[in-house]
Amino acid sequence: MKHLLSPLDLSVAELDDLLNLAQRIAADPKKFSHCCDGKKLATLFYEPSTRTRLSFEAAMLNLGGSVLGFSSADSSSAAKGESVSDTIRVISCYAEICAMRHPKEGAPTVAASKSGIPVINAGDGGHQHPTQTLTDLMTIRELRGSLDNFTIGLCGDLKFGRTVHSLIHSLIRYKNVKFILISPKELCVPDYIREDVLKANNIDFEEVERLEDVMPQLDILYMTRVQKERFFNEDDYLRMKNFYILDKPKMELAKKDMYVLHPLPRVNEISVEIDDDPRAAYFKQAQYGVYVRMALILTLLGLDKTV
Ligand code: NCD
Repeated sequence: MKHLLSPLDLSVAELDDLLNLAQRIAADPKKFSHCCDGKKLATLFYEPSTRTRLSFEAAMLNLGGSVLGFSSADSSSAAKGESVSDTIRVISCYAEICAMRHPKEGAPTVAASKSGIPVINAGDGGHQHPTQTLTDLMTIRELRGSLDNFTIGLCGDLKFGRTVHSLIHSLIRYKNVKFILISPKELCVPDYIREDVLKANNIDFEEVERLEDVMPQLDILYMTRVQKERFFNEDDYLRMKNFYILDKPKMELAKKDMYVLHPLPRVNEISVEIDDDPRAAYFKQAQYGVYVRMALILTLLGLDKTV
C-alpha cells in the first residue's frame, strides 16, 4: 500500500504523472466527478487548518466521494489519551484513505505503520508538508512551464516552516534550481536541511538576511509566515513577526515575470496592496491545491490509470 509521508515518497517520474493528472483535472474537473463514488476520505486534524483540510474535503467531494473526520485534537479521543496507532486502526474500518495533520513530527509515519488504508501526511509539526509541496510544484510548473532552471528565494521562517523543508527536499531533484534562503539568523534552515539536503547534494544555495538585496535575481519568491505556534517564548515571536513585509517598493525591485507564492495563511508578511499585482500567485496556488489533491487521492487509491 502507498502512503504519502514525505515528498520523496514519489519519484520524479511519479510526480510528473501526478502533476499531469492534476493538469488534466484542472482543465475539466467535471470529467472526474464520479471517480470516487462510494469512497470515503477521513481527515484527522490534530492541529488547526483551513486550506489543507478543506481542500482535501473539496477534492474528495469533487471526485464524488464523501468525507468524515475531526478538526481538532480536543474533539477526538486524543483528548482521552488514545494513541494515533489505535485511532488509525479504527479509522481504517471507516474510510478508504486518510489525511492526518499532527503537531508531533513523525506521527503520520507511526500511523501509517499500523494503518489498513493509505495515510497522507497533511503536516507534521515543523517537519514536512508534502501535499503543500505538490501544490507548490504544480503552481511553479503552471506559471513557468517547467520545474528546471530557475532561482527561488525562500523567505521568512525557514526554521519552523515545514512547507519550506518539503519544498527544498523536492526541488533539489530538478535541474539547475538555485536557492536563496532569506531569513533572520535565528530563523534560518535547520542543520539537517543545510548539511544533509543542500550541501550533501552539491546544490547551489546562499543564505542572506536582506530581501531587497536579492529581489532582482529571483524567478520565484516563496514567502512564509513566522510560525508562532512553534516558538518557545512570546517575546521572540514578537521580535521576529514583522521582520519581512513584502510591499510595493520591494516588488519594484523584482523581475516583471517573478511570481510570489505563499502557502497561506498570511499574517503581515505580504502587504494586501500586492494582491492585485499580476505576479501575486498565492490565491491561484490555493486553487491548484484542490486539483493536486484530487490527483493524489486517485493515485493512492490506484484509480489514476482508470481515468
Ligand atoms: C502551512 C502549514 O500548515 O504548514 N499552511 C498550509 O497548510 N497551507 C503554512 C503555515 O501555516 O504557515
